Amino acid sequence: MFKISQRRYLGNKNSILPFIDNIIKNEIGHFNSFCDIFSGTGVVGNYFNKKDNTIIFNDLLYHNFVSINAFLNKDKFNKDKLFF
Ligand SMILES: C[S@@+](CC[C@H](N)C(=O)[O-])C[C@H]1O[C@@H](n2cnc3c(N)ncnc32)[C@H](O)[C@@H]1O
Repeated sequence: MFKISQRRYLGNKNSILPFIDNIIKNEIGHFNSFCDIFSGTGVVGNYFNKKDNTIIFNDLLYHNFVSINAFLNKDKFNKDKLFF
């Protein structure tokens, strides 16, 4: 299965997620909402997408909106319409 972290993007933050996590832990501690303001692939917001967190994604590009929705939106969908 294709994972969100496999999306390739110039400036992708996938490799520094533990570093970002550490900074947030040290500077903020506990939080329950997170805004991934220049989402790109969505890997940063996805990393913090835990049970009690509300994540807001924001990106100028429509293809990122579509991809992030495809990976993370929990709405129901009809699989028959995706596969032929
Ligand atoms: C370097 S990428 C983000 C990388 C992302 N954190 C990741 O790990 O995939 C920068 C993103 O910012 C978006 N962007 C640039 N200017 C923006 C703006 N004014 N408002 C919203 N998104 C913007 C671009 O479309 C691009 O996807």
